[in-house]
Formats: sequence, C-alpha cells, structure tokens
Amino acid sequence: MIYLKYVLRLFFIVSATPSSILPLRGQQLHIRYPQREWIAPGITLDMEDTKIIPEMSSYGLHCPIRYLLFMLDLDVQIPTTGIQNVVLHWYQPDLVFDCNLRDPPNLLAPDTENSSDFVAPYIAPQAPGGSHHRYVFLLFEQQSSYNFPHCFEHIPPRTIESRAGFDIKAFMHAASLGPPVAVNYFFGRRNVSKGDDPSPFPSVTTTSFRSLTCDTSSTIS
Ligand SMILES: *[C@@H]1O[C@H](CO)[C@@H](O)[C@H](O)[C@H]1NC(C)=O
Ligand SMILES: *[C@@H]1O[C@H](CO)[C@@H](O)[C@H](O)[C@H]1NC(C)=O
Repeated sequence: MIYLKYVLRLFFIVSATPSSILPLRGQQLHIRYPQREWIAPGITLDMEDTKIIPEMSSYGLHCPIRYLLFMLDLDVQIPTTGIQNVVLHWYQPDLVFDCNLRDPPNLLAPDTENSSDFVAPYIAPQAPGGSHHRYVFLLFEQQSSYNFPHCFEHIPPRTIESRAGFDIKAFMHAASLGPPVAVNYFFGRRNVSKGDDPSPFPSVTTTSFRSLTCDTSSTIS
C-alpha cells in the first residue's frame, strides 16, 4: 500500500503546488532512451533526446508476471487559465520478458503473441520552449484478470483530445489496479532559441477535458 500512498500524495501535491518536487519513492523503474544512460529519478533530459520510444529493463521485476506502463506529463498548463492538466504520453500493457535470461537483466517488451487491442502509442515530450515539465513513468502488475476499462477507450489516438485530462486514479480504480510496482520520472527541457515559435504545438484547452463515467463492471473482455 505504501506506493499507492505516495502516488496519491503525488497527485494531490501536483494539483496544489505545481513546482514541488515529486515525493516518488519505492522501486525504481529502470528505463532509458536508447543509447543513453538509465534515467536517474529527477534528471533533466533535453526533449530532443526523447524522440525515440524508451526501453525498460526487467531489473527487479518478476517472471512470468505481465506488466503495464503509463507515462504522464504532469505539468501541462491550459493557456490563460493557469489550470494544470495531466497528459497521457504512453500506455502499454502486456509487457513481458524472457524468464530464462537473468544475467544481465533483459528488456521488457510487449508480448506480441498475446496482447490487448488497446495501446496508446508513445508520444515524445513536446512541451513549449523554456518550460520544464515532469514526465512520470508508472509500472503496474497486470493481473490475468485484467481487462481494459471501457471508459478509457478514447485514449489510443495521438491527439490532445484523446490524451489530455488523463485521470490515472480513475483508471486504477476502473481497472482494479494495485499500486505501481516501479516508478521513475525526469524533467523535460526545451531551450528557447532565437526565432522559436513560443508555442509550436497544439495547446490543451478547457474543451480538451472529458467527463468520464467509469463503471467498474463495464470492462472490455
Ligand atoms: C494471454 O494472457 C492472459 C493474461 O493476460 C492469460 O490469461 C492467457 O492465458 C494468455 N493466452 C495465451 C494464449 O497465452
Ligand atoms: C539547454 O541549456 C542547458 C543549460 O544552459 C544546456 O546544458 C543544454 O545542453 C542545452 N540543450 C540544448 C539541446 O541546447
């Protein structure tokens, strides 16, 4: 239960004081961008180094458990309102690794033989120049009884409408997920250079919010 407490605290703190440092603790998820160092929690990465989908080590994880991953941007601001929003960057279920290889730990990868139809493909961090957003990775155990919650069917497209306002607590509840088993985060940096368009990416607006009705019995099998 300890991880859940931290995560819930994390999200309360996020809404109250956006600039606070994450109190993330517990097992560290070993994740990195290809050809780069493993991410030490809280490091700063240039956004241009985060274009390629990250890879995860099975270090500290257990076979033959199946895992699912979320990557969230906690610091999206709705222009002119100052309202803070969470954007889902990646949802990948059915992560497994080869139980026979232990040394060195091998990589987690989606099980291609037996996987769910619902994946929200990776979107690289794309906060505006000069901003400093927190990107969080949360890894959960995927029980054999896991079903994708029907009320989140809208998340696969790589659009702001699909990904903004993502409510991880509602997802955890609707999917009966336990607390995350491994976590990590980094700060994404984009330097402002002369001639930059200050906001080259589509902005989140209040109409990006979606109201969810999650009934725990309405899962997709
Ligand atoms: C697919 O994975 C689920 C667990 O998510 C498991 O219950 C089921 O037996 C697997 N099916 C096959 C064919 O491996
Ligand atoms: C951005 O600025 C920081 C600090 O000034 C610097 O260390 C970093 O290399 C810069 N990144 C890029 C991609 O220019």
